[in-house]
Amino acid sequence: MAQNLNGKTAIVTGAGSGINFCFARLLLSRGVNVLVADLALRPEAKELIDTHSKDSPRAVYLKTDVTSWLDLSRTFKVAHDEFGGVDIVCPGAGIPEPPSSNFWRPPGQPPSQDDPQSNHYACLDINITHPICVTQLAISYFLSAKPKVSPTNPKSIIHISSIARVHGLCSRARMPQNSLILINTKIDPTPYLAEPYPISVGSNVHLISILRC
Ligand SMILES: NC(=O)c1ccc[n+]([C@@H]2O[C@H](COP(=O)([O-])OP(=O)(O)OC[C@H]3O[C@@H](n4cnc5c(N)ncnc54)[C@H](O)[C@@H]3O)[C@@H](O)[C@H]2O)c1
Repeated sequence: MAQNLNGKTAIVTGAGSGINFCFARLLLSRGVNVLVADLALRPEAKELIDTHSKDSPRAVYLKTDVTSWLDLSRTFKVAHDEFGGVDIVCPGAGIPEPPSSNFWRPPGQPPSQDDPQSNHYACLDINITHPICVTQLAISYFLSAKPKVSPTNPKSIIHISSIARVHGLCSRARMPQNSLILINTKIDPTPYLAEPYPISVGSNVHLISILRC
């Protein structure tokens, strides 16, 4: 499943900070152009983008609200226009359950900022609906890719998971063929990856990288 990354293009949502920023930086260090899609950039992310604004591999920032389908669609258009295609997609933006959108703080009751009339929870829109939307967009984009997707022209969708979900992911999930799981963690994952959950968790599911921040 090893891929030659040099010259590929990635879209990473939430790469304005934290784990996704580290992932974007790692991709750039391997020769991958990166579209950083986030609401805002932390100073280190701005510096990374400035450093890679001209020479290849390049980084481009697109202000993106991942709760907006139109914004997410635009990331594919901009990446295509800037870099000529998209090979790797990582819907990494996520939030812990903040007071503004929290099971214990119903919409309409401060500090909740969820609109009682919208029938939406920001927490779910960002953490669940956004990865679904990005996956739909990526599959649709990949299926019409030129040159066609093939073993020599692989495409990847990388979902960010919590280490707490590793056991569930490894033992229960039915993953599509060639799916890749990237597990990011701020704690040492080694104990969780010991047998019976080896790094290659099945013929179609491979853990390709662990980033520790
Ligand atoms: N930090 C952890 O211990 C941990 C553990 C397990 C999983 N994760 C997951 O890893 C990912 C990154 O976490 P992190 O700790 O680096 O967080 P972080 O807060 O540093 O980064 C999250 C990024 O998502 C962006 N974002 C939030 N809402 C957005 C929106 N509506 N539109 C666009 N961008 C938006 C933020 O601006 C931020 O740059 C998240 O999906 C998180 O759930 C983190």
